[in-house]
Amino acid sequence: MVDPLAIGVATTIVLVVVFFSSLEGTGWSPAEDISEEVLERRAATVPETDFPEPMNRAIGGGGGAVAVGGGAEGETGELEEGGAEESAGPGDIPEDEVEYYEVEFVKEGETVELANDEPILDQGEDQGWDMPYACRQGQCVSCAAHITDGPSEDFVVHDDQQMLGEAEIGDGYTLTCVAYPRDSFSIETGEAP
Ligand code: FES
Repeated sequence: MVDPLAIGVATTIVLVVVFFSSLEGTGWSPAEDISEEVLERRAATVPETDFPEPMNRAIGGGGGAVAVGGGAEGETGELEEGGAEESAGPGDIPEDEVEYYEVEFVKEGETVELANDEPILDQGEDQGWDMPYACRQGQCVSCAAHITDGPSEDFVVHDDQQMLGEAEIGDGYTLTCVAYPRDSFSIETGEAP
């Protein structure tokens, strides 16, 4: 026969044991918060910049505006430089400084005076001659011609020709659409290397 008193005592003991074990906890503790440490380490790996602090912090804000302003100044400077370079091209010689040279067109059977501020092709067309050409930008060889007196660049200045190599120039070939006379010479039009 089961003694109700004994059951009560046993139940009480179990409850007390459970209560005290719960007070001890599970032994688990949260991981240490290392976020600050990680942030510091990251900050240490980012190199210092020479930018003033406000620009360094700004993303698309005040710093960006200053950078854009700086860029505009730089562009202006470059544009000015580019303009200066372009104006130094043979086609931009001031009118009072233009010089003329005697050029013999062998196939056309004529010797004419050519200015040094205009391409040979244009000046040949001004004579009424049917000169060969295609791009008129130094990017093909349709207008090629042969200067019989020696290396072509001893007699003409090429303004940005992109087709002839050193050997061909050395052999006297020129692209008349971008070639400006700088001396007197004889030329055979319609002659490609
Ligand atoms: S026409 Fe093309 S290089 Fe002169």
